[in-house]
Amino acid sequence: MFANQKTILISGGSRGLGAAMVADSLEHGHRVITFSRRASDDLKRLGDAFGERLVWEALDATDTDAVTHFVKRMIADHGRIDALVNNAAVSLEQLFPLTSPEAVERTLTINLTACMVLTQLVSRNMLAHSAGNIINIGSILGSRGYKGTAVYSATKAALEGFTRSLARELGSRGIRVNCIAPGFIETDMTEGLDPKQRRQIERRTPLGRLGRVEDVLGLLRFLLSEDAAFMTGQVLVVDGGLTC
Ligand SMILES: NC(=O)c1ccc[n+]([C@@H]2O[C@H](COP(=O)([O-])OP(=O)(O)OC[C@H]3O[C@@H](n4cnc5c(N)ncnc54)[C@H](OP(=O)(O)O)[C@@H]3O)[C@@H](O)[C@H]2O)c1
Repeated sequence: MFANQKTILISGGSRGLGAAMVADSLEHGHRVITFSRRASDDLKRLGDAFGERLVWEALDATDTDAVTHFVKRMIADHGRIDALVNNAAVSLEQLFPLTSPEAVERTLTINLTACMVLTQLVSRNMLAHSAGNIINIGSILGSRGYKGTAVYSATKAALEGFTRSLARELGSRGIRVNCIAPGFIETDMTEGLDPKQRRQIERRTPLGRLGRVEDVLGLLRFLLSEDAAFMTGQVLVVDGGLTC
């Protein structure tokens, strides 16, 4: 048992950045609760390595009732959630005039409503303990335009506003709220980039490459730590300089 062990809820921990954040938090001694629609080899490996310190359930973020029951059950089982990372999201790359209302609604529900549902439930628990740490995973597309991502970008811009206002609401109660805005990171989400788009991103990025999930982990650790005790309401960009 680590002296500073925290219980961290990370949505969407089966793949990509979420799986990397789950692994890193477990390796640093924390207990991790996560959910996703499907299990993954990464989760199975982490379950074998870390046993009861990892809790995973199959859950669809579009099912608000199921998310609510899950969080209430986790709070009943573990007593306290020290940190929430709102990570689960889907991309939607399509020209806006051609996007169906169903696709718009689904993207808003997963990328935004589910974050709010999770944050509301978890922040009540944090208020009871006068401490907590909420980290929203935004995107540089929340502040920069990119053709074909209007709905996704809108959800990420909304998360930035959510972060700032919530930081003002909860700061006096010992709860910090920040947002990490990654640039293009190598995961399933960016697998669909065609070679031309990829070359263009690399060319426009001062550090000359797409990011790797590991590039985001240091910032997560920092925000979770006491080194960030005086930071709240901030959007922190990790993009190799693409937006500088
Ligand atoms: N990759 C990038 O370039 C990039 C850039 C900027 C920001 N981001 C942000 O970083 C975060 C992670 O992205 P990523 O690249 O790691 O994406 P990813 O590889 O596609 O992984 C997304 C995760 O979310 C889960 N998820 C998706 N829909 C879900 C649903 N309806 N219910 C429950 N879980 C769901 C997925 O699991 P299941 O599919 O099994 O449900 C998976 O674990 C997202 O917030 C994304 O917007 C990514």
